Amino acid sequence: MTIISSPENKLHLYRQQFPALANKVYFNYGGQGPMAQATMDAITQAQAYIQQLGPFGNAVSQWVGQQIKATKAAIASELKVQPETITLTENVTVGCNIAIWGLDWHPGDRLLISDCEHHGIVAVTQEISRRYGVEVTTFPLLATLNHGDPVAVLQQYLHPNTRLVVLSHILWNTGQVLPLDKIVKVCRDSGCFLLVDAAQSVGLLPLNLTELGVDFYAFTGHKWLCGPAGVGGLYVRPEVRESLQPTFIGWRGIITNSQGQPANKYPDGQCYEVATSNYPLYAGLKEAIAIQQQWGTAEERYQQICRHSEYLWQKLTQLPHIRLLQTSPPESGLVCFQLPHNHPQSHLELVKFLEQQGLFTRTIAHPNCVRACVHYFTIASEIDQLVEGIRQWLTMSS
Ligand SMILES: Cc1ncc(COP(=O)(O)O)c(C=O)c1O
Repeated sequence: MTIISSPENKLHLYRQQFPALANKVYFNYGGQGPMAQATMDAITQAQAYIQQLGPFGNAVSQWVGQQIKATKAAIASELKVQPETITLTENVTVGCNIAIWGLDWHPGDRLLISDCEHHGIVAVTQEISRRYGVEVTTFPLLATLNHGDPVAVLQQYLHPNTRLVVLSHILWNTGQVLPLDKIVKVCRDSGCFLLVDAAQSVGLLPLNLTELGVDFYAFTGHKWLCGPAGVGGLYVRPEVRESLQPTFIGWRGIITNSQGQPANKYPDGQCYEVATSNYPLYAGLKEAIAIQQQWGTAEERYQQICRHSEYLWQKLTQLPHIRLLQTSPPESGLVCFQLPHNHPQSHLELVKFLEQQGLFTRTIAHPNCVRACVHYFTIASEIDQLVEGIRQWLTMSS
């Protein structure tokens, strides 16, 4: 008997790699992606190998060094940058902290942030403001979701003293994708740095950061790339590295002299890495990226995500009284909607009701809504089940 390898078959086999997908219908990729079995195995095998070689010794140090290099090369292939521009971190927030604290702030400087940023990143800017007398301004990006021009609004809020703009590439609360090329240009023209929170864009959008020319791009491996929680990174444009000093520093970021004393910082992204990390996780992220790339190019993966989000968006528009935040199909995998009366408690009740049926979504506080994320390996029947679950809840609660 010949087994015909249809696209459905391929997708089915691909999905079997992810144990978490076997017992649920998952729409929380923007919170955390599931890991493939091979990703988990890569972590365990790396751990076993470290124990076999060391755990401490020259051979094992050399091997860990090679793993770090290979992980940076894998990340660099997704971001289209040189591996040396990458700093390995634990998550998005650490990357943002490196970029925000590392600038040379003075009282009276300004920092511009949108009203759609993650509270963890907003907290960093508030602390900078408190410590250094920096004025943090928030500009109204949310209102541009369906109408208006985000770049023009940003431009209105730039001030001669603005030193840094902090902005997400894809907004976690609405799914809006920002025109980063235009934003880079506006920031460059006004002489300020641009830090991008890439929590929702790495692993979702096809990227070429070298072409984009963004200054700082902070990301994580544990969301759309489906890597392990605990490894992320920061891209720093080589031309601005001298302007970004390490706030935390340790043996991993410095070159020692013949007496073993700190002599210089590493002249690349390593200068912001501090000390011992959970190295086996790097092997996990490298494997996770390989698995994504085996499925298709970044462009193919993105197009598939958009097809799925359009399908979900279309189906939700057919449900009575559901209000989608976006009035046209999203350009990302994040689909956000509100229930009739738009009450936070109803959104939470819906999310809990769905989870009881094995359907995983989440609530967002601002704007108050429910978020469902689709990946390229989401299947249409999952979307149908989600829409059916929402329909049931609407019927029950009407
Ligand atoms: C836009 C955005 N920024 C930051 C974060 C925090 O991510 P991490 O825990 O990797 O720092 C998230 C997590 O959901 C996010 O969506």
